[in-house]
Formats: sequence, structure tokens, C-alpha cells
Amino acid sequence: MIFRKLFPAISLILLSALHFQVSAQQVKTPGKVKTVSISGQQVKISTEHAFAEITVYSPAIIRVRMDKQPLGNDFSYAVIARPVATAAQITQNSNEISITTDSLRMRISKHPFAISFFSPSGDVISEDETGLTTSWIGDEVTTYKKMQEQERFIGLGEKTGNLDRKGEGYTNWNSDVFGYAANRDPIYATVPFYIGIHHHHNYGIFFDNSFHSDFNFGASNNRFSSFGARGGEMNYYFIYHQQMKDIISSYTSLTGRMPMPPLWSLGYQQNRYSYYPDTEVLRIAQTLREKKIPADGITLDIHYMDAYKLFTWNRERFPQPKQLTDRLKDMGFRVTVIVDPGIKAEAGYAAYESGRKENIFIKYSDGQNYTGQVWPGWCHFPDFTSEKGRQWWRGQIKSYIREGVSGIWNDMNEIATWGQKMPNNVVFDYEGHPITHLQAHNLYGLQMVRASYDGAREALQQRPFLLTRAAYAGSQRYSALWTGDNRAEEDHMLLGIRLMNSLGVSGFSFTGMDVGGFTGNPGVSLYARWMQIGAFIPYFRNHTGINTKSAEPWAFGEEVLEISRNYINLRYKLLPYLYSSMYASTRTGVPVMQTLALNNAFDSSVYDTRFQNQYGFGPAFMIAPFESTREFGKIYFPEGRWYNFYTDAITGGRQEITADLNIRTLPVFVKEGSIIPMQSLIQSTREKPSDTLSLHVYQGGSTYTFIYYEDDGESLDNEKGIYYERAITYDAPGKQLTLAKPAGAYNSQFHYIRVILHGFPAQKSIAVNGSPVSLQSAALSFLSPISRFDPQGSFIPAESCTVQEAVFANTNQLINVGL
Ligand code: NOJ
Repeated sequence: MIFRKLFPAISLILLSALHFQVSAQQVKTPGKVKTVSISGQQVKISTEHAFAEITVYSPAIIRVRMDKQPLGNDFSYAVIARPVATAAQITQNSNEISITTDSLRMRISKHPFAISFFSPSGDVISEDETGLTTSWIGDEVTTYKKMQEQERFIGLGEKTGNLDRKGEGYTNWNSDVFGYAANRDPIYATVPFYIGIHHHHNYGIFFDNSFHSDFNFGASNNRFSSFGARGGEMNYYFIYHQQMKDIISSYTSLTGRMPMPPLWSLGYQQNRYSYYPDTEVLRIAQTLREKKIPADGITLDIHYMDAYKLFTWNRERFPQPKQLTDRLKDMGFRVTVIVDPGIKAEAGYAAYESGRKENIFIKYSDGQNYTGQVWPGWCHFPDFTSEKGRQWWRGQIKSYIREGVSGIWNDMNEIATWGQKMPNNVVFDYEGHPITHLQAHNLYGLQMVRASYDGAREALQQRPFLLTRAAYAGSQRYSALWTGDNRAEEDHMLLGIRLMNSLGVSGFSFTGMDVGGFTGNPGVSLYARWMQIGAFIPYFRNHTGINTKSAEPWAFGEEVLEISRNYINLRYKLLPYLYSSMYASTRTGVPVMQTLALNNAFDSSVYDTRFQNQYGFGPAFMIAPFESTREFGKIYFPEGRWYNFYTDAITGGRQEITADLNIRTLPVFVKEGSIIPMQSLIQSTREKPSDTLSLHVYQGGSTYTFIYYEDDGESLDNEKGIYYERAITYDAPGKQLTLAKPAGAYNSQFHYIRVILHGFPAQKSIAVNGSPVSLQSAALSFLSPISRFDPQGSFIPAESCTVQEAVFANTNQLINVGL
């Protein structure tokens, strides 16, 4: 009787125990540590169900590799660094293994295997979630980290959503997403690196696994953050520094930094899908010059080709490509052409025939070339994961260089094919160790830009400009990246900023978005605001889709033309600042376009969705972008004092201010203590500016150094030490500005320095190397008033503002200026 009554309950218990066993069996954890072998900076571990290898890469970087089976071939396209010799103490006892460097401590518990990282003072930075740690479900591997109290997450490259990714989950699978929604995931690029922030600590995790991967930052769970992939090893690098910028430097020491771009690629670029024929391209170029809109680039989209066949020209539209590129060069324009990976499978088409002969296309597992449909029709696709495939591509790319092309725009390299369902049984060479599409997909874009970069550089013997849509971690070594087919909508303009800010903290410094929007037609004010923002992003290109209205700066009426010109002019005057900031990025990996979190990681206001789009542009500027329709808006000022760029009015930090907004000016602020080098207005980088470099110095409270950089803008001589690098230090307490002796073998093009002092008490003179040089009062004139539309002028200097300037010779000796 009793048994009968209890039966349902007992069976329930039995059933759930059974069920737990089943699910526990399906989810495999490493279990207890069985053997440990320590050798130098490395520990090899076997556990009941797994194998692990822990390597100290540097005092701040520890790599963790794990698998269910003995670890396989260690190979990565992303990581180019080897471990650096590091004094690491590695000890063990019966309960744990401990690894201590100058920067962090790692503890590996043995019963069961679980990892924790601590700061030198013993604070938890990151720890495996007990019970879950790293586990496998079939081939899928995931590492679970305990969600720390109030933990935030930023980065992961080109990901939509908020700056703080807490509560969200993301997938990496490079996708062709025409006109993507502002919350779409995944989009084009895979950068599996993020930064976690909590309790005044920040750390980075780079999960180097190219399979379809998933990141969870507390989406649908309140227990953990996790990262995992549908195949391959658990393979991550843990990075700890106190400063976020050092985390980015360490991350880019692993995956590489962008090379110095050619100067022209930082100028304004005009584009549409597509300008043709050649006379139309020339008309656009001429109009830019006639209307005095500085510009350096014109881009040819797919219609330059014959029936979209790569490495061909449509001879009706472009009968003499070399004549066209030469003529444009004379006018100060460089040409970038689009390239897609699809090679039309058509008998007699030279690229197809040679690709087939050389046997460089990716194949199904039975050896038949894979065929997918894209612009030209049915295509084969080069295997960029083999040296043979890359070599073939490099050879083909040279044909563009012969025609005078300076830039290669790599599109559709996710791989995009109609149907968007590339079969997984396509095999890639992977340097002689074949892999399937499952592992190769996210790497394709990276390997394509590698081949394009190498081919263009070899043929040009100069710095080429490369642009890509798809990417994997490390693509920054070869190419700039733009955020694909955005929409001409206000929220997309702001989303683009967040995408670039996120890419910035994930190692990509040279980024851009389609200014004006790709799908749809922007309204007049949206276009104007977007152009203003464009002046403050690294790659400034106006681009629009095939069926949209004209989107050149003159297509929206006189006022927008003046606004656009004003900000493009400003961009050109700021080129010495931008070029130097890009140079800094090549050295440190710290992005030019910076989320405010970069310097204010522990200030909760910078993550506030009202302020999350504000960003730094180089070390001096803070931009507050707003929808173009807003008449007022709240701006957050982080730590420090901030000058209004147009009026010099000062606002104290750590407060929010409601500002009046108008469409003629983008809210731009300068951090106190900044140094901003500027030049005279030029119409393209081919034109020489005047021989005076203007150094704007903003009175501040501490000591700050700007690294000024110059070179010839295009050759590879910079790699041989032929550059001009000069530390300019403003020591506010000591009231000194010092221009150190320059390093490098290049002579500056500027023979004079004009120092422009903002916010300093009025004085008669300054002492330059002990001799007085008189100070004149100066005007604030970064923009021209748009008189017809704004009779009073928008830029009324603040009452308290004093701006004074002095000019002196620029010598290669140490120059000391007493302020
Ligand atoms: C897709 C790219 O994202 C877009 O920028 C380009 O204009 C079209 N392909 C046509 O080539």
C-alpha cells in the first residue's frame, strides 16, 4: 500500500536521477587532474577526461589550451607572437598548481580542474564557474566564467548592441547582411576578443577558435559569462593589466597591429555603387575640385568590370584604365577598386582558366571545385588558406597595380553567395592540413586580405590601401575594415560609431562606415550630421547603394554643401594630428577612435545608453554625436576639464550638461592639456601645406606628451627608419612646452612652428630657448561661419577665452618654450 503510494514519487526521483546522469554524461567536464608536467613557462596537464596546456606568454598574458583528446597541431592565422621569456614561478601541491608573474597569479585547482586568475594583490579577476568550468557537448566546447558582481563586457569586434554587452549573447559566423537591422547578429566580421570590467579591474580574453562560436555575457542566465565553439580546441589567452589600453596593447602584440597607412587613405573618399563610365568618374573628381571639397580617393565598385568578372575591365565604360588613373592622379585622386573572391566559371575567361590550371579553387570533399553563385553568376573561389592560392591571387592583383590602382577593396569575402548557405563539406587546404568550411569560414576574409595586401604591396613597392568587409582577429595587419551595408537612418549612424568603437578596443584601428548610409536615402540633416561625424572617423568614405539618389556633398543643397566642406576642410587641417595618431596606433594598438570606456573604464556613466555613443578621436578630442533632428541633448563629460572646440568655453568633468544642438556644428570638445598639430588647408594630400605647423595647446593641470609623426606618406622608407618622430611635451605645472630632438632620418616639411595657446593667461611673449618671442592674440577659426544661413555666426568665442599665438623656427634641436 505504502509502496503504491510512494511509487510515483520514487519513480520521479529515479527518473530525474537517470535524466541527470544522461545529461551529465552528455556534458563532459575535465574532471580531476591526473598528471602535471612543468617545463619552463609551460604546464602540461592531463585530467580524467581532458588534456590541457598552460603557457605563460608574457607577464600579463597566459594561454590556455584544452581538448578532450591529446592536443593537436598548434597553428593560428591570428596569433603572430611567440611567448616572451618571462620570470614565472610555477609550483604545485596536492590541491593546486600556481603560476605567478609580476602582473598576475593563476591558480588551477586539481579536484576538479578549474582555473582562476588573481591580481598581484590577490583580488579575483576571473574564475571558472564551479561545476561548469570548461565542458564539451559532442564537439562543442565552452568555458564558463563566474559572472562577477556588476561585471561589464565590451569589445568582441564588429557587434551590434550596446557598448556594455552585459545580458546579451553573440555569435561569430561571418555573414553577408544587406541593410542589416541595428540589432542583427552576426554581421560580417569575427573578432573573438572582449574585455571584462568589474571591481576596478579589467581583463581581456581572446578565444582563438575560428569555428562558429558563441559568447554569452549573462544572456538568459544569471550565473556565468561564457565562450565556446562548435568544434576545435578551447584555446584562449587571458590578459590582465590595470589600464585598458595596456590590455589592447597586449592583445595586439599577439594578433598584430595595422601597418602605417598611406596618407592619401586618410583623406576624404568619394564612392557609390557604381560610378561609371570613366567620364562620370572624372566628372565627380572635377566637381569635387570645382566646389573646393578636398578629397583624395575615388572608388570603383563592381561596374568597372566586364560582366562582374574579376581582373577584367568593361572596355566600353573604361577603355583606358591607366589613362584614367593617371589623369586622376594628376588631379590628386587615388583609385581603389573593389574585388570579390568569386571567379566566374566560364570557359575562356582568363582568370578562370588559369585558376583551374593552377588548381587553386576550394573543393568539395570529393575533389570537385565548389561552385556558388554571386554577381557574375556561378563562380569558383580561390583557396586563400594555401600558399599556392595566395600566390595566384597576388599575381592577379598585380594587374590592377599596372593600371595605376592604389587601393584594393575586398568585398563579399564572408564568403557571400546567393542562398547564403555555403555547404560545410567544402574543404580548404589550411597550409597542407585540410579543414572543412566549418573551421575555415570565419578565416576566409582574413586570408583574402592577406593575399591582396601582399600582392598589392609587392607590385606597388609602396604602402597599399586595403579595405575589407569580412575579417577574423589579425586582419588589422593588412586592411582597414568598414561596417558594410548600413542603412541611411539615424540609429544606424550611431550604431556605426559603436561598431567602430568596439572594433577599436578589439585591435582594429583603421575603420569606417558608409557615411550617408548604404541602403535608402538620407534626409538633408542626417546627411550633414553624418558628414560631420565622418570627419572624425579613421576611414572617411561616402558610399551609397545602387538604386539610391545621388549622395555627393553637393546633392543636398547649398547649406549641406557648406557644412560638408567645412568639416572636410577641418579633417584636412587635422591630418598631422590624425596621421600621428594612426602612427601611435601602429606602435601600441591603441585605437584612434576610442569608446570613452578606454580611459574611463570604471566610470559607470560612460556605459549609460544616453552617453555610450560619445567617443574620443585620438588623445585630444571627445565627440558627442547626436541624431541630426535633435535640438538639445545631454552630454557627459568624463574626468578632466573640457574645452568646447569652437568657443574654448570650459566644462568641468564628471557631470552631464544639456547642450543646445544645431545641424551646422557637431559637438566636439578638447581635453585640457592636449596638443593638436594642424596644417593649412589643402585640397588633397598631393598638395603641400604651407611650411608652418600649428600646435594648439590647451592649458591643463598635468604633464602630457604627444608623439608627432611625419614621413613621405607613401613609400616603404618609413620601415627603414626614414621618418620624423618627435615627442612634444606640455608640462603644465612646470609651464613648459618641449619639442624633443626628433628621431628618424626624415626632415619635417614644416620650417616654422606656430604655437597657439588656448586658455592661458594673456601674456606679451613666450621664451623660445630663452629668447622672447612675441605673442599675438588669435582668432578661433576652425570652421567658417556659414554666413548666409547663420548671420550671427555659430562660433562665438567664450568671454573668458584667450587665444594667443607665436611663431618660431622649427629646428631639429631641442626646443624649449616657457609658457
Ligand atoms: C556589397 C558591399 O557591401 C557594397 O558596399 C558594394 O557596393 C556592393 N557589394 C556592390 O559591390
